[in-house]
Amino acid sequence: MKEKKVLKPEEWDFNVFTGIGKDWMLITAGNEKKCNAMTAAWGGFGVFWQKNIAFIGVRSQRYTREFIDKHGAFSLTFFPPSYKKTLAYLGSVSGRNEDKIDKSGLTLTYHSDGTPYFEEAHTTVICKPLYVQRQNAEAFLDRTLIEEWIAEGDFHYVYYAEIMAILQNK
Ligand SMILES: Cc1cc2nc3c(=O)[nH]c(=O)nc-3n(C[C@H](O)[C@H](O)[C@H](O)COP(=O)(O)O)c2cc1C
Repeated sequence: MKEKKVLKPEEWDFNVFTGIGKDWMLITAGNEKKCNAMTAAWGGFGVFWQKNIAFIGVRSQRYTREFIDKHGAFSLTFFPPSYKKTLAYLGSVSGRNEDKIDKSGLTLTYHSDGTPYFEEAHTTVICKPLYVQRQNAEAFLDRTLIEEWIAEGDFHYVYYAEIMAILQNK
């Protein structure tokens, strides 16, 4: 196992626009018995309620959502560019239909609170959801977004989660 250093959020040198939007991340939740992971390209980091926060958007049918809600925790993991194909795979099939973590070849490991993440990630953010709300048509100020992004009322559940730890390879 690679040695990790624990970073304070203010020490973390990270560009969300490339790190999430272009390079993507995995959202992983569960425990040592069973967990699931999905790829995400939408989300971010910031400050709310005087806390350091991650936010993610998870559509209703994602299997991963069940694990987030059941365990009240998830990890966000960021990988070197050579893992992009693996992330594309984890974002194209559901853990409901196949053991995609096993097939991905990634190595599961667990934070001290039991939250799963991946050994191959260069950076891991451990998160505790504080607030979740499903987006709805009435709240959109720009309604063209609904047409562009929301098929058959499949609005995202947006989670605001406290950043509990940031782990980075030494
Ligand atoms: C590049 C990429 C970005 C994605 N971003 C998101 C996202 O932000 N939110 C979401 O709900 N699904 C997103 N997806 C789709 C899920 O990763 C995909 O549906 C996945 O198979 C869900 O797996 P699960 O059912 O095992 O949870 C993305 C997929 C890809 C390939």
